[in-house]
Amino acid sequence: MLVIIKDDYQAISLEAARLVANRMHKKPNLVLGLATGSTPLGLYGELIRMHRSEGLDFSKLTTFNLDEYVGLRPEHPQSYRHFMRQNLFDHVNLDPRFTHVPDGMATDIEDHCLWYEQRILAAGGLDLQILGIGANGHIAFNEPGSSLGSRTRVKTLTGTTREANARFFGADEDVPRYALTMGVGTIMEARELLLVASGEGKAHAIAASVEGPITAMVPASIVQMHARAFLVIDRAAAAGLKGAYASSFEEAVITRRKL
Ligand code: GLP
Repeated sequence: MLVIIKDDYQAISLEAARLVANRMHKKPNLVLGLATGSTPLGLYGELIRMHRSEGLDFSKLTTFNLDEYVGLRPEHPQSYRHFMRQNLFDHVNLDPRFTHVPDGMATDIEDHCLWYEQRILAAGGLDLQILGIGANGHIAFNEPGSSLGSRTRVKTLTGTTREANARFFGADEDVPRYALTMGVGTIMEARELLLVASGEGKAHAIAASVEGPITAMVPASIVQMHARAFLVIDRAAAAGLKGAYASSFEEAVITRRKL
């Protein structure tokens, strides 16, 4: 894994957007995995800016979101489909037919999860998956204890995750108890991973994921096993790391060549 430490949130957003835009230029029909949460917002904002002022083209992209709450309609203001519309889809030239978010209202959940996996395969597999990280080390909604080989399925959210997400809902009890999520195994099959993290609240999870043992209790630690994983994090999120890391993709590549 390539860890890149930037000064602050703004800097990680720009660095991460630079990588995504680079992959879009190289492969206009990129299959891009998307994440929700507040961390990728700056990255999405920068991609929107690049679309508007530099003509960054999304028209041939296919996207797959990591997860969705069970029981929320796509129009629900807290649904991840709505979040993606508001923060990316409605501002760029993505073809809505090529955007995928798991359906939290699916009547046959098992069948829907299988279909979602099949859609990813039919699109040629994920080229690049964007990830955030939960304070407890979760990726997507793969909570601690998730099987490291898991596929898209329904997960029960932990109390801490529901509390962390309560800020988006009116009351704690409004936070859904279940979510559909790509599995850890699904995520690991993406050809590249780009994990973004910001703030001291993520320092413990980042240290455990980057320098701790690989364990299902910290699902993000499996990213250590990925051949092409980029972690773009700010100083506050990097506070618990002991090793020396790069400050840009260029520097990281030079260091690798030296090795
Ligand atoms: C949710 C999402 C995750 C995200 C996490 C962190 O649980 N399912 O994909 O990484 O929140 O969110 P934030 O970036 O707001 O800290």
